[in-house]
Amino acid sequence: MNVSDSGIVGTILTDNGFQLVNDTSEADVVLLNTCSIRDNAEKKVKNRIQELNTIKKKRGLIIGILGCMAERLKEDLITNYGVDVVCGVDSYRKIAEAINNSIDSSIALTVLNSQETYEGITPLQINTDAVTAFVSIMRGCENFCSYCVVPYTRGRERSHSVKSIITQCEDLFSKGYREITLLGQNVNSYRFNDGERTTDFADLIKQVAEINPLLRVRFATSHPKDISDRLIDVIASYNNICKAVHLPLQSGSSDVLKRMNRKYTREEYLEKIKRIKATIPDCSISTDIIVGFCGETPEDFEQTLEVMRIVEYDYAFMFAYSQRPDTLAAKKYADDISLQEKNRRLTQLINLQRDLSMASNRRDIGKVYEVMVEEQSKRSADKLFGRNSQNKVVIFDVGDFKKGDYAKVKILDCTSATLFGKTL
Ligand code: 5AD
Ligand code: SF4
Repeated sequence: MNVSDSGIVGTILTDNGFQLVNDTSEADVVLLNTCSIRDNAEKKVKNRIQELNTIKKKRGLIIGILGCMAERLKEDLITNYGVDVVCGVDSYRKIAEAINNSIDSSIALTVLNSQETYEGITPLQINTDAVTAFVSIMRGCENFCSYCVVPYTRGRERSHSVKSIITQCEDLFSKGYREITLLGQNVNSYRFNDGERTTDFADLIKQVAEINPLLRVRFATSHPKDISDRLIDVIASYNNICKAVHLPLQSGSSDVLKRMNRKYTREEYLEKIKRIKATIPDCSISTDIIVGFCGETPEDFEQTLEVMRIVEYDYAFMFAYSQRPDTLAAKKYADDISLQEKNRRLTQLINLQRDLSMASNRRDIGKVYEVMVEEQSKRSADKLFGRNSQNKVVIFDVGDFKKGDYAKVKILDCTSATLFGKTL
């Protein structure tokens, strides 16, 4: 989401006479696009602001904070951290003016506006060498998972127009991009009404896939309560819609899920997984998991491990619960699992996932995949780096390929994170 927002800010600023530079040392203005999802994300930004303040003292610099931390901490960033411009997620149209005015006095723009979708602004692609791009299809979130700060920092859910999304994807394809990831906090609640018809996410992804069979389409994130059978059928029926579903579990215990306000049970989640696996047999499944949420007992935690073993995730993002101020969980439940215990559970989770990823990759040895070439491998000049439809990284021998080409690769070996193969 932040990559796409940085692109929006990039377009607004370049349209207003600003220029992108490659390094902080050449910059008159440094903008940090920030995330508040966990406390350590905020801590990193605070350290970076300190570093920038050292430069500011030496030679003058305008420091701007964008994104969720701007929305959450507001004027505090000016008063206590030496920031010049604080610009929240719905105020980017005013960013150029704010930077210019900040020369006289610092400024904070943090009013949320549920109408703002940045219609008409095509995000600047900051890495123009890449063949993969992200396209944001909606903003905000109204799910109010009890641990999560996003509904407060990014505001009401709203969908971008079908026309703006399709135009952006067509434009990216014509510039040589070959893979687009459609992004939203919960893409399954995408809805756009143009007066005559309502387009939902299954309709939208079909339209994107139909731009060209050589354009791969991915999407993230799906909320388990909303992922529809129709969407699962659409994924199965289009070759260029990637066979990879990211379905955040968060916890394998129905009790914990209830306190998390996730609105599904362990059994309902497992039913969805069953449906996906039955309809798309070669689909990879990845997830997000939080350990050490308020009141998580050893038995609750064991249930999470159990779901991981049942689903056999190909990949997982795993986090220790970090209490965020003003969320429902912060108001209602005690953050009662010690840091040491959270970390112990996290390590156990990571170890299990490493074994599951390894087992999943071993099952791929001998199979042949269509791999899209992304770049030269960073580790060795005579290898290429790409991904298969399942979103697994594949390293293979250099053939007569350029970025964005599809190579048929037979898998010969693996680690828990990477597949190695040779082209056929
Ligand atoms: N603490 C830890 N992890 C969190 N996430 C969201 N909020 C928190 C929090 N307070 C995780 C969830 C989500 C992912 C993007 O970040 O797993 O799916
Ligand atoms: Fe946060 Fe839940 Fe919305 Fe995801 S769906 S952004 S976890 S509130």
